[in-house]
Amino acid sequence: MRGLSQRVKALKPSATVAVNAKALELRRQGVDLVAMTAGEPDFDTPQHVKDAALRAMQAGKTKYAPPAGIPELREAISAKFKRENGLEIPPEQTVVTVGGKQALFNLFQAILDPGDEVIVIGPYWVSYPEMVRFAQGTPVEVLTGPESGFVPDPEEIERKITSRTKALVLNSPGNPTGAVYPPEVIRAIAELANKHDFYLVSDEIYEHLIYEGEHFSPAHVAPERTITVNGAAKAYAMTGWRIGYAGGPKDVIKGIIDVSSQSTTSPDTIAQWAMVEALTNTEASGRFIAMAREAYRKRRDLIVKGLNDIGLTTPMVNGAFYVLSDTSRIDPDENKAALRMLEEAKVAVVPGTDFAAPHHVRFSYATSEANIQKALERLAELLKVG
Ligand SMILES: Cc1ncc(COP(=O)(O)O)c(C=O)c1O
Repeated sequence: MRGLSQRVKALKPSATVAVNAKALELRRQGVDLVAMTAGEPDFDTPQHVKDAALRAMQAGKTKYAPPAGIPELREAISAKFKRENGLEIPPEQTVVTVGGKQALFNLFQAILDPGDEVIVIGPYWVSYPEMVRFAQGTPVEVLTGPESGFVPDPEEIERKITSRTKALVLNSPGNPTGAVYPPEVIRAIAELANKHDFYLVSDEIYEHLIYEGEHFSPAHVAPERTITVNGAAKAYAMTGWRIGYAGGPKDVIKGIIDVSSQSTTSPDTIAQWAMVEALTNTEASGRFIAMAREAYRKRRDLIVKGLNDIGLTTPMVNGAFYVLSDTSRIDPDENKAALRMLEEAKVAVVPGTDFAAPHHVRFSYATSEANIQKALERLAELLKVG
């Protein structure tokens, strides 16, 4: 009999879709909208990376790649783990994927059996619990709030561990919170993984966007249990190239590769050569990252101060390009608040509902200072009107 599977029927399309659809409709009508919804850098991909892709095409590097990725890129990823994170992960324990997203998706398919539990720390990126459910696992939430700067308490995490706990997802710097966990918190959580024998999924996609504090990889503490996920998108402004990667235990990496081999075969070969350039031309890439980081830092300072000044409580956070702001003063229901912001102030944001962030909306500040200023002025006006 025809019909969709239960699994797909249960898949929740993101709440961002509703606001985005409305925003697009307003744009089509010619409305001057400030969009602060996008989870992507507003910078273009660096020229040296584009040039590498052109060279790859011209050299005929246009064929299928191995499911694990081209050897040159796996070498570059292994060297990156060593250079930037101090981790010893040999090339054969790495895999190249279609964005960090596919690394995570395949990983949950590879490690979860029905009913296995995965601890997710909220507010979280919406895809974690959905990917876990799609792999027939059960997400178990540990919630954090602005009072702790959205940093979890390892003791609270330990109370959620059961005999079914298969994995825990760490995301520092985090989406949608912008929180950077102190190394001692990451260390304590990694020690829990060792003590209770579960996997740590460390999504480090925003590692280069830290304004205060330092990045610490839990793989230092739990090397046999940590799968470190990263990608090209946020660090090198390469969202559309769809290149991500993971490094970790041999059997888990093989599981990820096996899922790829029966689904995508391999990521785009040309984009892989572009990523080799991004990872190995450390001078040019380093200059780009430093420029982008400085721009985001200024924007973060502007938006956090600006939102607090107009009465929308927003904790200062140190990473990624997001802030969560308490919009109860606009409407206690964050969906209604986001809709008022869109319709009355013409500022598009993402309501916190699906991130497990009630009363909050997410602002992405991957947009110009002029846009941020404009959004702040419009919201000040909205709050005045009441
Ligand atoms: C926390 C987090 N992880 C992973 C990703 C996936 O990025 P990509 O698949 O573009 O590499 C994103 C993208 O928004 C993200 O916010």
